[in-house]
Amino acid sequence: MESQLSINSTAKLNDGREIPLLGLGVYLSPPGDVTKNAVLTALAAGYRHVDTATLYRNEADVGEAILARDSPPRDEVFVTTKILNAHQGYENTLAAADTSLVKLKTGYIDLLLLHSPLPGKKKRLESYRALEELVKSGKVKSIGVSNYGIHHLRELFETNPEIKPAVNQIEVHPWCRRQELTDFCEANSIVVEAYSPLAKAQRLDDASLVQIAQKAQQNFCTNFNSLGSPAWLCELAEKYK
Ligand SMILES: NC(=O)c1ccc[n+]([C@@H]2O[C@H](COP(=O)([O-])OP(=O)(O)OC[C@H]3O[C@@H](n4cnc5c(N)ncnc54)[C@H](OP(=O)(O)O)[C@@H]3O)[C@@H](O)[C@H]2O)c1
Repeated sequence: MESQLSINSTAKLNDGREIPLLGLGVYLSPPGDVTKNAVLTALAAGYRHVDTATLYRNEADVGEAILARDSPPRDEVFVTTKILNAHQGYENTLAAADTSLVKLKTGYIDLLLLHSPLPGKKKRLESYRALEELVKSGKVKSIGVSNYGIHHLRELFETNPEIKPAVNQIEVHPWCRRQELTDFCEANSIVVEAYSPLAKAQRLDDASLVQIAQKAQQNFCTNFNSLGSPAWLCELAEKYK
């Protein structure tokens, strides 16, 4: 089956905005040139979505790459960052978002997430109220949560938030389907954003996956043949068939 997905594919958020489906995550990417060059390379390759967090300590490098002279215009790139658990609470979340903006220098944050529900009910709800304020002040465009279970989302809905969470970023991949949670999110118009989509490289030798990859290589080769692409690319694809 041919996939209709491309690097330009997006998902519609419940606030009307679009999030590019494919993003570059920079967890464990060291601060400095490594992160900056990774983001520059991704943008040059067509990526338009970067996922960082205060925890990753590389927001400044992500921002530098997004604002670099040869990068696409700011409003064509979707940047996500996240509030550290230790920064949750109403005032702390407002201050943490300001600090992220100072580091990113991107003018606004496309998506701001509460990194996890671990700080407890009081802080979860206070922090979410701060996220709503950040949207109203224009510092943040879309808001959401990460690592939330169904009970955390229900707890939030009981407070009748003015702005619904647009995204729940959770670990999802073929070996971690989380069907009940993803169904719940879908029923409540929350986009599920998969993290660790490659299963942290622990299943790359799985027989079914290898078979699918081989099939994809075949299609890849066929597609490139029909586009008249360089022979070396097709030879490479043939080699892995
Ligand atoms: N919200 C959260 O709590 C949370 C938690 C975890 C992750 N995330 C987000 O999700 C992003 C991705 O998650 P992740 O880094 O945990 O896991 P992942 O993307 O599933 O896997 C990353 C691992 O795959 C390896 N890899 C990638 N391509 C490969 C290839 N072709 N051959 C061999 N190995 C390959 C990488 O190797 P190298 O190290 O050599 O590149 C790295 O070890 C993060 O960067 C972050 O933005 C969010």
